[in-house]
Amino acid sequence: MTGLEIALGNETIIDFERSEQSKALEMSTLHVNLGPRGYDIVMGAKFADGFGRFAASVLPGRSAFLVSDRNLFAQEHPDRLLASLQAAGFRIGSLELVPGEERKSLESLSVVYDKLADFGADRQTVVIAMGGGVVGDLAGFAAATFNRGLPWIMVPTTLLAMIDSSVGGKVGINHPAGKNLIGAFHQPRAVWIDLEYLSTLGRREFRSGLAEAVKYGMILDEDLFCWLEQNHLNIAKPSHADLEHLVHRCCQIKATIVKRDELDQTGLRAVLNYGHTFAQAFERVAGYGVLLHGEAVAMGMDCAARAAQQLGWIGSDVVQRQRMLLHLLDLPTTYAAEWPLPDLLEAMRHDKKSESGQFRLVLPRRIGHMETNVQVSESLIRQVLSSHTLRAEA
Ligand SMILES: NC(=O)c1ccc[n+]([C@@H]2O[C@H](COP(=O)([O-])OP(=O)(O)OC[C@H]3O[C@@H](n4cnc5c(N)ncnc54)[C@H](O)[C@@H]3O)[C@@H](O)[C@H]2O)c1
Ligand SMILES: [Zn+2]
Repeated sequence: MTGLEIALGNETIIDFERSEQSKALEMSTLHVNLGPRGYDIVMGAKFADGFGRFAASVLPGRSAFLVSDRNLFAQEHPDRLLASLQAAGFRIGSLELVPGEERKSLESLSVVYDKLADFGADRQTVVIAMGGGVVGDLAGFAAATFNRGLPWIMVPTTLLAMIDSSVGGKVGINHPAGKNLIGAFHQPRAVWIDLEYLSTLGRREFRSGLAEAVKYGMILDEDLFCWLEQNHLNIAKPSHADLEHLVHRCCQIKATIVKRDELDQTGLRAVLNYGHTFAQAFERVAGYGVLLHGEAVAMGMDCAARAAQQLGWIGSDVVQRQRMLLHLLDLPTTYAAEWPLPDLLEAMRHDKKSESGQFRLVLPRRIGHMETNVQVSESLIRQVLSSHTLRAEA
Protein backbone atom coordinates (compact mmCIF):
# COMPACT_ATOMS: atom_id res chain seq x y z
CA MET A 1 0.00 0.00 0.00
CA THR A 2 1.25 3.45 -0.84
CA GLY A 3 0.56 6.28 1.55
CA LEU A 4 0.20 9.71 -0.01
CA GLU A 5 0.47 13.09 1.53
CA ILE A 6 1.26 16.23 -0.39
CA ALA A 7 1.88 19.43 1.52
CA LEU A 8 0.02 21.76 -0.78
CA GLY A 9 0.61 24.74 1.48
CA ASN A 10 4.33 24.64 0.73
CA GLU A 11 3.94 23.59 -2.87
CA THR A 12 6.10 25.54 -5.26
CA ILE A 13 5.48 23.70 -8.47
CA ILE A 14 2.33 25.66 -9.20
CA ASP A 15 2.87 29.38 -9.63
CA PHE A 16 -0.01 31.73 -9.12
CA GLU A 17 0.98 34.81 -11.01
CA ARG A 18 -0.52 37.69 -12.90
CA SER A 19 1.44 38.45 -16.00
CA GLU A 20 1.05 41.83 -17.73
CA GLN A 21 -1.05 40.14 -20.40
CA SER A 22 -3.29 38.44 -17.85
CA LYS A 23 -3.78 41.72 -15.96
CA ALA A 24 -4.89 43.39 -19.19
CA LEU A 25 -7.47 40.66 -19.70
CA GLU A 26 -8.35 40.47 -15.99
CA MET A 27 -7.41 36.84 -15.80
CA SER A 28 -5.33 34.78 -13.44
CA THR A 29 -2.84 32.14 -14.44
CA LEU A 30 -1.73 28.84 -12.96
CA HIS A 31 1.27 27.24 -14.55
CA VAL A 32 1.28 23.45 -14.78
CA ASN A 33 4.96 22.74 -14.61
CA LEU A 34 5.59 19.69 -16.74
CA GLY A 35 8.87 20.91 -18.22
CA PRO A 36 8.65 21.03 -22.02
CA ARG A 37 5.02 19.92 -21.84
CA GLY A 38 4.13 22.57 -19.24
CA TYR A 39 1.23 24.94 -19.89
CA ASP A 40 -0.85 27.72 -18.40
CA ILE A 41 -4.36 27.45 -17.08
CA VAL A 42 -5.82 30.93 -17.49
CA MET A 43 -8.98 31.88 -15.70
CA GLY A 44 -11.29 34.86 -16.01
CA ALA A 45 -14.83 35.79 -16.93
CA LYS A 46 -16.38 37.22 -20.06
CA PHE A 47 -13.05 37.43 -21.82
CA ALA A 48 -13.80 35.47 -24.99
CA ASP A 49 -12.75 38.42 -27.14
CA GLY A 50 -9.18 37.93 -25.97
CA PHE A 51 -9.07 34.25 -26.92
CA GLY A 52 -7.67 34.70 -30.43
CA ARG A 53 -4.83 36.90 -29.23
CA PHE A 54 -4.12 34.43 -26.44
CA ALA A 55 -4.10 31.43 -28.82
CA ALA A 56 -1.79 33.31 -31.17
CA SER A 57 0.60 34.01 -28.28
CA VAL A 58 0.68 30.30 -27.44
CA LEU A 59 0.77 28.99 -31.03
CA PRO A 60 1.54 31.78 -33.52
CA GLY A 61 0.57 31.72 -37.19
CA ARG A 62 -1.65 28.69 -37.29
CA SER A 63 -5.00 27.49 -38.44
CA ALA A 64 -7.51 26.55 -35.76
CA PHE A 65 -10.16 23.85 -35.79
CA LEU A 66 -12.78 24.10 -33.04
CA VAL A 67 -14.73 21.05 -31.85
CA SER A 68 -17.77 21.64 -29.67
CA ASP A 69 -21.29 20.31 -29.24
CA ARG A 70 -24.83 21.37 -30.13
CA ASN A 71 -25.68 22.72 -26.67
CA LEU A 72 -22.74 25.07 -26.77
CA PHE A 73 -23.43 26.19 -30.32
CA ALA A 74 -27.04 26.89 -29.21
CA GLN A 75 -25.60 29.32 -26.65
CA GLU A 76 -23.31 30.82 -29.30
CA HIS A 77 -20.26 30.21 -27.11
CA PRO A 78 -18.13 28.75 -29.96
CA ASP A 79 -19.09 31.57 -32.34
CA ARG A 80 -17.43 34.17 -30.13
CA LEU A 81 -14.21 32.16 -29.92
CA LEU A 82 -14.19 31.56 -33.67
CA ALA A 83 -14.69 35.28 -34.37
CA SER A 84 -11.87 36.09 -32.00
CA LEU A 85 -9.57 33.49 -33.62
CA GLN A 86 -10.35 34.85 -37.06
CA ALA A 87 -9.65 38.40 -35.91
CA ALA A 88 -6.28 37.18 -34.67
CA GLY A 89 -5.42 35.85 -38.13
CA PHE A 90 -6.24 32.14 -37.81
CA ARG A 91 -7.82 30.22 -40.66
CA ILE A 92 -10.78 28.63 -38.89
CA GLY A 93 -12.95 25.54 -39.12
CA SER A 94 -15.39 23.94 -36.71
CA LEU A 95 -17.39 20.82 -35.95
CA GLU A 96 -20.64 20.58 -34.00
CA LEU A 97 -21.06 17.22 -32.25
CA VAL A 98 -24.19 15.66 -30.82
CA PRO A 99 -23.84 15.96 -27.01
CA GLY A 100 -23.66 12.97 -24.67
CA GLU A 101 -21.36 10.39 -23.11
CA GLU A 102 -22.44 7.76 -25.66
CA ARG A 103 -20.77 9.94 -28.32
CA LYS A 104 -17.35 9.36 -26.76
CA SER A 105 -17.09 6.57 -29.29
CA LEU A 106 -15.06 5.30 -32.23
CA GLU A 107 -17.81 6.48 -34.58
CA SER A 108 -17.63 10.08 -33.32
CA LEU A 109 -13.84 9.96 -33.39
CA SER A 110 -14.02 8.93 -37.01
CA VAL A 111 -16.23 11.96 -37.75
CA VAL A 112 -13.67 14.27 -36.12
CA TYR A 113 -10.88 12.71 -38.23
CA ASP A 114 -12.97 13.17 -41.40
CA LYS A 115 -13.59 16.84 -40.65
CA LEU A 116 -9.94 17.48 -39.78
CA ALA A 117 -8.94 15.89 -43.07
CA ASP A 118 -11.50 18.00 -44.99
CA PHE A 119 -10.13 21.09 -43.27
CA GLY A 120 -6.64 20.16 -44.40
CA ALA A 121 -5.37 20.04 -40.83
CA ASP A 122 -1.62 19.67 -40.49
CA ARG A 123 0.87 20.16 -37.69
CA GLN A 124 0.30 23.94 -37.99
CA THR A 125 -3.31 23.40 -36.94
CA VAL A 126 -4.38 23.84 -33.34
CA VAL A 127 -7.43 21.90 -32.19
CA ILE A 128 -9.69 23.86 -29.83
CA ALA A 129 -11.79 21.52 -27.68
CA MET A 130 -14.67 23.57 -26.29
CA GLY A 131 -17.10 21.80 -24.00
CA GLY A 132 -17.38 19.42 -21.10
CA GLY A 133 -15.31 16.32 -20.43
CA VAL A 134 -16.86 14.45 -23.32
CA VAL A 135 -15.79 16.96 -25.98
CA GLY A 136 -12.43 17.39 -24.22
CA ASP A 137 -11.67 13.67 -24.08
CA LEU A 138 -12.83 13.03 -27.66
CA ALA A 139 -11.31 16.08 -29.37
CA GLY A 140 -8.17 15.75 -27.26
CA PHE A 141 -7.77 12.14 -28.39
CA ALA A 142 -8.33 13.16 -32.01
CA ALA A 143 -5.61 15.80 -31.52
CA ALA A 144 -3.31 13.21 -29.95
CA THR A 145 -3.60 10.86 -32.90
CA PHE A 146 -4.39 12.84 -36.08
CA ASN A 147 -1.26 13.31 -38.18
CA ARG A 148 0.70 11.80 -35.24
CA GLY A 149 -0.34 14.58 -32.94
CA LEU A 150 -1.69 18.12 -33.23
CA PRO A 151 -1.40 20.80 -30.54
CA TRP A 152 -4.64 21.56 -28.73
CA ILE A 153 -6.18 24.06 -26.34
CA MET A 154 -8.90 23.00 -23.94
CA VAL A 155 -11.75 25.41 -23.28
CA PRO A 156 -13.77 23.71 -20.53
CA THR A 157 -17.39 24.79 -20.17
CA THR A 158 -18.69 22.51 -17.39
CA LEU A 159 -17.58 22.69 -13.78
CA LEU A 160 -16.32 19.11 -14.01
CA ALA A 161 -14.18 19.91 -17.03
CA MET A 162 -12.86 23.11 -15.43
CA ILE A 163 -11.73 21.42 -12.23
CA ASP A 164 -10.83 17.98 -13.45
CA SER A 165 -10.87 16.67 -17.00
CA SER A 166 -9.19 19.65 -18.70
CA VAL A 167 -6.05 19.35 -16.58
CA GLY A 168 -3.64 16.47 -16.92
CA GLY A 169 -3.70 15.39 -20.55
CA LYS A 170 -5.72 12.19 -20.25
CA VAL A 171 -7.77 11.89 -23.43
CA GLY A 172 -9.74 9.04 -24.89
CA ILE A 173 -12.98 7.34 -25.80
CA ASN A 174 -15.16 4.57 -24.40
CA HIS A 175 -15.33 0.98 -25.65
CA PRO A 176 -18.16 -1.49 -24.97
CA ALA A 177 -15.66 -3.38 -22.78
CA GLY A 178 -14.92 -0.36 -20.61
CA LYS A 179 -15.08 3.38 -20.12
CA ASN A 180 -12.05 5.36 -21.32
CA LEU A 181 -10.51 2.09 -22.47
CA ILE A 182 -8.93 3.63 -25.57
CA GLY A 183 -6.84 6.68 -24.90
CA ALA A 184 -3.58 8.54 -24.65
CA PHE A 185 -1.70 11.14 -22.66
CA HIS A 186 -1.59 14.35 -24.66
CA GLN A 187 -1.14 17.55 -22.69
CA PRO A 188 -2.93 20.62 -24.06
CA ARG A 189 -0.87 23.75 -24.85
CA ALA A 190 -3.17 25.78 -22.62
CA VAL A 191 -6.43 25.59 -20.71
CA TRP A 192 -8.71 28.62 -21.06
CA ILE A 193 -11.36 28.87 -18.32
CA ASP A 194 -14.10 31.47 -18.74
CA LEU A 195 -16.29 31.17 -15.65
CA GLU A 196 -19.08 32.93 -17.52
CA TYR A 197 -19.84 29.69 -19.38
CA LEU A 198 -21.16 28.20 -16.16
CA SER A 199 -24.11 30.61 -16.28
CA THR A 200 -25.68 28.54 -19.08
CA LEU A 201 -24.84 25.13 -17.60
CA GLY A 202 -27.75 23.07 -16.26
CA ARG A 203 -28.08 22.72 -12.48
CA ARG A 204 -27.70 18.93 -12.59
CA GLU A 205 -24.46 19.20 -14.58
CA PHE A 206 -23.14 21.86 -12.23
CA ARG A 207 -23.89 19.65 -9.19
CA SER A 208 -22.18 16.75 -10.90
CA GLY A 209 -18.97 18.76 -11.07
CA LEU A 210 -19.14 19.48 -7.35
CA ALA A 211 -18.66 15.76 -6.65
CA GLU A 212 -15.09 16.04 -7.97
CA ALA A 213 -14.54 19.06 -5.70
CA VAL A 214 -15.64 16.95 -2.71
CA LYS A 215 -13.21 14.30 -3.95
CA TYR A 216 -10.31 16.78 -3.89
CA GLY A 217 -11.24 17.74 -0.34
CA MET A 218 -11.38 14.11 0.71
CA ILE A 219 -8.13 13.07 -0.92
CA LEU A 220 -5.87 15.99 -0.14
CA ASP A 221 -7.38 19.12 1.28
CA GLU A 222 -9.44 19.13 4.47
CA ASP A 223 -9.66 22.94 4.26
CA LEU A 224 -11.41 22.67 0.91
CA PHE A 225 -13.76 20.06 2.38
CA CYS A 226 -14.62 22.44 5.26
CA TRP A 227 -15.02 25.36 2.83
CA LEU A 228 -17.55 23.31 0.86
CA GLU A 229 -19.41 22.45 4.07
CA GLN A 230 -19.53 26.09 5.11
CA ASN A 231 -20.40 27.45 1.68
CA HIS A 232 -22.83 24.88 0.35
CA LEU A 233 -25.67 27.41 0.29
CA ASN A 234 -23.61 29.99 -1.63
CA ILE A 235 -22.41 27.30 -4.00
CA ALA A 236 -26.00 26.61 -5.07
CA LYS A 237 -25.94 30.14 -6.54
CA PRO A 238 -22.27 30.94 -6.56
CA SER A 239 -20.71 34.35 -6.83
CA HIS A 240 -17.81 34.93 -9.17
CA ALA A 241 -15.47 35.00 -6.17
CA ASP A 242 -16.76 31.63 -4.88
CA LEU A 243 -16.33 30.05 -8.29
CA GLU A 244 -12.89 31.49 -8.76
CA HIS A 245 -11.81 30.17 -5.37
CA LEU A 246 -13.26 26.72 -6.03
CA VAL A 247 -11.96 26.29 -9.56
CA HIS A 248 -8.56 27.71 -8.76
CA ARG A 249 -8.05 25.48 -5.72
CA CYS A 250 -9.20 22.33 -7.51
CA CYS A 251 -6.99 23.03 -10.54
CA GLN A 252 -4.08 23.61 -8.20
CA ILE A 253 -4.60 20.22 -6.54
CA LYS A 254 -5.07 18.39 -9.84
CA ALA A 255 -2.02 20.05 -11.40
CA THR A 256 0.07 19.22 -8.35
CA ILE A 257 -0.80 15.55 -8.58
CA VAL A 258 -0.30 15.45 -12.36
CA LYS A 259 3.11 17.08 -11.99
CA ARG A 260 4.17 14.32 -9.61
CA ASP A 261 2.87 11.45 -11.73
CA GLU A 262 2.14 12.68 -15.25
CA LEU A 263 1.82 9.22 -16.82
CA ASP A 264 0.02 7.46 -13.98
CA GLN A 265 3.07 5.33 -13.23
CA THR A 266 4.15 5.93 -9.67
CA GLY A 267 0.74 5.37 -8.12
CA LEU A 268 0.37 8.99 -6.96
CA ARG A 269 -2.11 9.91 -9.68
CA ALA A 270 -4.21 6.93 -8.66
CA VAL A 271 -5.42 8.95 -5.67
CA LEU A 272 -7.68 10.79 -8.13
CA ASN A 273 -9.56 7.51 -8.55
CA TYR A 274 -11.10 7.76 -5.08
CA GLY A 275 -14.68 6.47 -5.49
CA HIS A 276 -14.12 5.84 -9.20
CA THR A 277 -13.85 2.04 -9.27
CA PHE A 278 -17.38 1.85 -7.87
CA ALA A 279 -18.47 4.84 -9.97
CA GLN A 280 -17.34 3.33 -13.25
CA ALA A 281 -19.26 0.15 -12.43
CA PHE A 282 -22.40 2.19 -11.69
CA GLU A 283 -22.03 4.13 -14.93
CA ARG A 284 -21.52 0.96 -16.93
CA VAL A 285 -24.34 -1.08 -15.39
CA ALA A 286 -26.78 1.85 -15.55
CA GLY A 287 -25.83 2.33 -19.21
CA TYR A 288 -23.61 5.18 -20.38
CA GLY A 289 -25.43 8.49 -20.26
CA VAL A 290 -28.00 7.51 -17.60
CA LEU A 291 -25.96 8.78 -14.67
CA LEU A 292 -23.83 11.89 -14.82
CA HIS A 293 -20.21 11.12 -14.02
CA GLY A 294 -20.22 13.17 -10.82
CA GLU A 295 -23.40 11.46 -9.59
CA ALA A 296 -21.71 8.09 -9.99
CA VAL A 297 -18.61 9.44 -8.24
CA ALA A 298 -20.70 10.66 -5.30
CA MET A 299 -22.19 7.18 -4.87
CA GLY A 300 -18.78 5.61 -5.38
CA MET A 301 -17.19 7.76 -2.67
CA ASP A 302 -19.89 6.73 -0.24
CA CYS A 303 -19.11 3.07 -1.01
CA ALA A 304 -15.36 3.61 -0.66
CA ALA A 305 -15.79 5.38 2.67
CA ARG A 306 -17.90 2.52 3.95
CA ALA A 307 -15.30 0.01 2.78
CA ALA A 308 -12.70 1.96 4.80
CA GLN A 309 -15.06 1.92 7.76
CA GLN A 310 -15.42 -1.87 7.45
CA LEU A 311 -11.63 -2.13 7.58
CA GLY A 312 -11.63 -0.04 10.74
CA TRP A 313 -9.69 2.79 9.08
CA ILE A 314 -12.30 5.49 9.68
CA GLY A 315 -15.28 5.82 11.96
CA SER A 316 -18.91 6.23 10.98
CA ASP A 317 -18.53 9.95 11.74
CA VAL A 318 -16.33 10.40 8.63
CA VAL A 319 -18.73 8.36 6.47
CA GLN A 320 -21.63 10.47 7.74
CA ARG A 321 -19.79 13.75 7.27
CA GLN A 322 -18.95 12.97 3.66
CA ARG A 323 -22.50 11.77 3.03
CA MET A 324 -23.96 14.89 4.62
CA LEU A 325 -21.83 17.16 2.43
CA LEU A 326 -22.81 15.25 -0.71
CA HIS A 327 -26.48 15.57 0.25
CA LEU A 328 -26.09 19.29 0.99
CA LEU A 329 -24.73 19.63 -2.53
CA ASP A 330 -27.74 17.69 -3.82
CA LEU A 331 -25.71 14.67 -4.87
CA PRO A 332 -26.89 11.05 -4.53
CA THR A 333 -25.21 8.48 -2.30
CA THR A 334 -27.42 5.46 -2.95
CA TYR A 335 -27.98 3.58 -6.13
CA ALA A 336 -30.89 1.89 -7.82
CA ALA A 337 -31.69 -1.46 -6.25
CA GLU A 338 -32.34 -3.03 -9.65
CA TRP A 339 -28.69 -2.95 -10.67
CA PRO A 340 -27.73 -6.61 -10.09
CA LEU A 341 -24.86 -7.22 -7.71
CA PRO A 342 -23.14 -9.77 -10.03
CA ASP A 343 -23.15 -7.20 -12.85
CA LEU A 344 -21.63 -4.55 -10.61
CA LEU A 345 -18.92 -6.95 -9.40
CA GLU A 346 -18.17 -7.95 -12.96
CA ALA A 347 -17.93 -4.30 -14.03
CA MET A 348 -15.60 -3.57 -11.12
CA ARG A 349 -13.41 -6.50 -12.11
CA HIS A 350 -13.21 -5.09 -15.62
CA ASP A 351 -12.13 -1.68 -14.41
CA LYS A 352 -8.84 -1.15 -16.22
CA LYS A 353 -7.25 -0.21 -12.89
CA SER A 354 -7.93 -3.64 -11.42
CA GLU A 355 -5.04 -6.00 -11.80
CA SER A 356 -5.65 -9.68 -12.57
CA GLY A 357 -9.21 -9.56 -11.28
CA GLN A 358 -8.23 -8.29 -7.83
CA PHE A 359 -10.12 -5.42 -6.31
CA ARG A 360 -7.84 -2.49 -5.63
CA LEU A 361 -9.26 0.64 -4.14
CA VAL A 362 -8.28 4.10 -2.96
CA LEU A 363 -9.47 4.36 0.62
CA PRO A 364 -9.46 7.17 3.19
CA ARG A 365 -7.50 7.13 6.43
CA ARG A 366 -9.10 10.46 7.27
CA ILE A 367 -10.46 13.51 5.45
CA GLY A 368 -7.53 14.79 3.39
CA HIS A 369 -5.52 11.59 3.33
CA MET A 370 -5.88 8.45 1.23
CA GLU A 371 -4.06 5.21 0.66
CA THR A 372 -3.92 3.93 -2.89
CA ASN A 373 -3.69 0.44 -4.28
CA VAL A 374 -5.43 -1.16 -1.30
CA GLN A 375 -6.24 -4.77 -2.09
CA VAL A 376 -9.65 -5.74 -0.79
CA SER A 377 -11.59 -8.99 -0.82
CA GLU A 378 -14.62 -9.68 -2.93
CA SER A 379 -16.63 -10.32 0.21
CA LEU A 380 -15.93 -6.81 1.46
CA ILE A 381 -17.07 -5.33 -1.86
CA ARG A 382 -20.19 -7.50 -1.74
CA GLN A 383 -20.90 -6.35 1.79
CA VAL A 384 -20.54 -2.67 0.86
CA LEU A 385 -22.70 -2.99 -2.25
CA SER A 386 -25.39 -5.15 -0.61
CA SER A 387 -25.85 -2.97 2.43
CA HIS A 388 -25.97 -0.05 0.06
CA THR A 389 -28.75 -1.60 -2.01
CA LEU A 390 -30.83 -2.31 1.09
CA ARG A 391 -30.70 1.33 2.01
CA ALA A 392 -31.28 2.46 -1.56
CA GLU A 393 -33.84 5.21 -1.95
CA ALA A 394 -34.79 4.14 -5.48
N1 LIG B 1 -9.76 13.25 -19.00
C1 LIG B 1 -9.92 13.26 -17.70
O1 LIG B 1 -8.97 13.36 -16.94
C2 LIG B 1 -11.31 13.16 -17.16
C3 LIG B 1 -11.55 13.41 -15.79
C4 LIG B 1 -12.85 13.37 -15.33
C5 LIG B 1 -13.91 13.10 -16.21
N2 LIG B 1 -13.66 12.85 -17.52
C6 LIG B 1 -14.73 12.57 -18.46
O2 LIG B 1 -15.56 13.72 -18.56
C7 LIG B 1 -16.84 13.29 -19.01
C8 LIG B 1 -17.90 14.04 -18.24
O3 LIG B 1 -17.75 15.42 -18.49
P1 LIG B 1 -18.89 16.48 -18.14
O4 LIG B 1 -19.45 16.20 -16.80
O5 LIG B 1 -18.29 17.80 -18.42
O6 LIG B 1 -20.08 16.11 -19.15
P2 LIG B 1 -20.37 16.47 -20.67
O7 LIG B 1 -19.14 16.76 -21.41
O8 LIG B 1 -21.25 15.39 -21.18
O9 LIG B 1 -21.23 17.79 -20.55
C9 LIG B 1 -22.46 17.76 -19.88
C10 LIG B 1 -23.58 18.41 -20.70
O10 LIG B 1 -23.52 19.82 -20.54
C11 LIG B 1 -23.56 20.46 -21.80
N3 LIG B 1 -22.79 21.68 -21.63
C12 LIG B 1 -21.45 21.76 -21.43
N4 LIG B 1 -21.12 23.02 -21.14
C13 LIG B 1 -22.25 23.76 -21.18
C14 LIG B 1 -22.52 25.12 -20.95
N5 LIG B 1 -21.58 25.99 -20.57
N6 LIG B 1 -23.79 25.55 -21.08
C15 LIG B 1 -24.76 24.68 -21.43
N7 LIG B 1 -24.57 23.36 -21.62
C16 LIG B 1 -23.31 22.91 -21.50
C17 LIG B 1 -23.00 19.47 -22.77
O11 LIG B 1 -23.47 19.71 -24.06
C18 LIG B 1 -23.52 18.16 -22.20
O12 LIG B 1 -24.84 17.94 -22.64
C19 LIG B 1 -16.89 11.81 -18.83
O13 LIG B 1 -16.79 11.20 -20.10
C20 LIG B 1 -15.65 11.48 -18.01
O14 LIG B 1 -15.13 10.21 -18.30
C21 LIG B 1 -12.38 12.89 -18.00
ZN1 LIG C 1 -14.02 11.66 -12.22
